[in-house]
Amino acid sequence: MKGHSSWNITLFVGSMIMLLGPIATVAQYESAVGDPGMRRDGLRVAFEAWNFCNEVGVEAPGMGSPRAADCFDLSGRHRHRRSARFHKNVTLRHKVTEVDNRLGIGSAFPGLRTDVLNNADLYAAHKELYLGSLCKVEDTPKPWHFWMIMLKNGNFDTTSGLCPENGRKAPPFSPGKFPCFGIRCMNQPILNHQQTQILGNSTMRGGFNGTYELGADVTDGIDDISFYEVVWEKKIGAGSWVFHHKLKTSKKYPWLMLYLRADTAKGFSGGYHYNTRGMLKTLPESPNFKVRMTLDIKRGGGPRSQFYLIDIGSCWKNNGKPCDGDVLTDVTRYSEMIINPETRSWCSPTSLGNCPPYHITPDNKKIHRNDTDNFPYSAYHYYCAPGNAKFLESPASTCDPYSNPQAQELVQLLPHPAWAEYGYPTKQGDGWIGDGQTWELDVGGLSSRLYFYQDPATSPARRIWPSVDVGTEIFVSDEDEMAEWTLSDFDVLLTST
Ligand SMILES: *[C@@H]1O[C@H](CO)[C@@H](O)[C@H](O)[C@H]1NC(C)=O
Ligand SMILES: *[C@@H]1O[C@H](CO)[C@@H](O)[C@H](O)[C@H]1NC(C)=O
Ligand SMILES: *[C@@H]1O[C@H](CO)[C@@H](O)[C@H](O)[C@H]1NC(C)=O
Ligand SMILES: *[C@@H]1O[C@H](CO)[C@@H](O)[C@H](O)[C@H]1NC(C)=O
Repeated sequence: MKGHSSWNITLFVGSMIMLLGPIATVAQYESAVGDPGMRRDGLRVAFEAWNFCNEVGVEAPGMGSPRAADCFDLSGRHRHRRSARFHKNVTLRHKVTEVDNRLGIGSAFPGLRTDVLNNADLYAAHKELYLGSLCKVEDTPKPWHFWMIMLKNGNFDTTSGLCPENGRKAPPFSPGKFPCFGIRCMNQPILNHQQTQILGNSTMRGGFNGTYELGADVTDGIDDISFYEVVWEKKIGAGSWVFHHKLKTSKKYPWLMLYLRADTAKGFSGGYHYNTRGMLKTLPESPNFKVRMTLDIKRGGGPRSQFYLIDIGSCWKNNGKPCDGDVLTDVTRYSEMIINPETRSWCSPTSLGNCPPYHITPDNKKIHRNDTDNFPYSAYHYYCAPGNAKFLESPASTCDPYSNPQAQELVQLLPHPAWAEYGYPTKQGDGWIGDGQTWELDVGGLSSRLYFYQDPATSPARRIWPSVDVGTEIFVSDEDEMAEWTLSDFDVLLTST
């Protein structure tokens, strides 16, 4: 994708000679994120870990609540711009301390309500708001906070009764359906933090890493244990931050997810039922937005790695109304394209229940899934309907009722010519290992033409997306698998006028 340079660049050279950049013949895009293209030297990045149903459950010993952040501004810059010694005096002024990062249940912090103090789930949500207040950057139309690194463990101890079923409290049930090695399989991870620092060559670098195997030390090697790591690096004053990700499964933790998310700066993000903090100062709405990013996948993570070139998350009720935190009627909606070429289409003429009822073409023609001559079956990996939908067209497959705090709906796509119009991968292997590239995806256009369930005779939901993310879900691997990729230049561009 050819990047466009749509900004009028104003340079003041010497005594007020003003040069204008490219003439504004190109569409003017406004960025929805606080840090367009990840170019801001003063980074804002946070970490969150989720259990199977997007909560905490129990904190890992000594780790505090699984929320952390690395946020700083630079001081002493802009002197001797052209000198080789330009960066000598630059220092990073950090806004979050390791004491903040290790806060866990029982420890108060400014603004914390006492009823939250000993509830690990609520505490994490409030800690995120607190870290957000430390990292906040004032901006219009709204302040923003951080990129969010999200790590999730897919183990589910069904005997725990910990996760609701489509939002409804559910009794424990016998194991077998979900991975779990025993009573503590839903634990939170060990988290190591290397606070961002300036290296000798005017490069800044920091990172988070760790493992789910409590008691293991990743510096002793990561054979036989799970591992995650995100290292960010940037040259001062130049280019984008590059986020280098690694995710490794183990026998005990065969189902793991690691994403970098742009979440809403305020309100509910996709998959949450509480207020969050994030990078989106304006929420993108279909069809008027695009997502740009550079993605370079170095290791795929095995056949079960569902690498999402882009995943978008939202929430609306089956009657089309926006979500309000009522987990019985709120429904999380996700759509994602899986670019691992080993991922097969589960939707087919003989498995219509795994397909959405219809496909919509760029010129707005609806093709019903029983139209075997025209329906693009291999453009869909899997469609599943919300478990609380009352008027499903049969056959139907409903989504896993336990892995979200509320019911969910999933529209999972595969590379296919049907998506060419939107700048998405059109064939298996596009964007995969050895095909690193900068994408400009018409996510808004595509998501405006996807089927999502609604009750009959209700007005269509506004498709507003409070979460946009990239990463992989290694979905119950048979062997230890490692995925590795870099992400940079991330931006969400509003294309409306
Ligand atoms: C660094 O800071 C010192 C003290 O503020 C100043 O004298 C010096 O000129 C600065 N050097 C550079 C390269 O900016
Ligand atoms: C800067 O130095 C670090 C540590 O020595 C090295 O890993 C990194 O590649 C260097 N970066 C650049 C841009 O030279
Ligand atoms: C993980 O982080 C720790 C602490 O920042 C660091 O020493 C280590 O090199 C990192 N990576 C691995 C694989 O241990
Ligand atoms: C296809 O499905 C539609 C909608 O349910 C139905 O009206 C139509 O009769 C079906 N066509 C065939 C050939 O089954």
